[in-house]
Amino acid sequence: MACGGSGSVDSDDMLPVDSKYAEGKEIYSRTCVACHMKDGKGLEGVFPPLAKSDYLLADPKRALKQVVQGSDEVMVVNGVEYDQVMPPQDVTDEEAVAVVNYILNAWGNDGGEVTMEDLKKIQN
Ligand code: HEC
Repeated sequence: MACGGSGSVDSDDMLPVDSKYAEGKEIYSRTCVACHMKDGKGLEGVFPPLAKSDYLLADPKRALKQVVQGSDEVMVVNGVEYDQVMPPQDVTDEEAVAVVNYILNAWGNDGGEVTMEDLKKIQN
């Protein structure tokens, strides 16, 4: 993971987020980027932002659930209302944990981490 020098380092963050969460970043780039965009800012009114999202950071375990089970509800994210459907994502349990940990820490987010334990509790 920490080999080679091609990973970029978030300049406003002490941690090299992109290398610490390399797997999650890769999954994000493959799966989530189409809607939530590379910079995590989404598309206002259609796809909610993940970067500095009050909704995400208020309840990281809920994000895990949304990735695995999808989400179809009215939500207010950073003051803007969203009422769209996010389909369940085609990822393994490990990938779900990895990608959520990436979004919790990318773009200057400081959201901590979720674990496989958290995911198992959701699935029970
Ligand atoms: C097809 C488009 C699409 C894809 C792909 C997608 N999402 Fe979403 N996402 C949405 C929409 C639409 C919502 C709002 C859902 C609602 O209103 O219930 C949402 C909501 C969210 C939220 C909660 C709101 C917020 O902004 O904090 C999180 C977290 C999230 N998505 C993470 C992800 C992650 C991680 C992936 C990739 C594994 C992903 N999404 C893939 C469309 C998408």
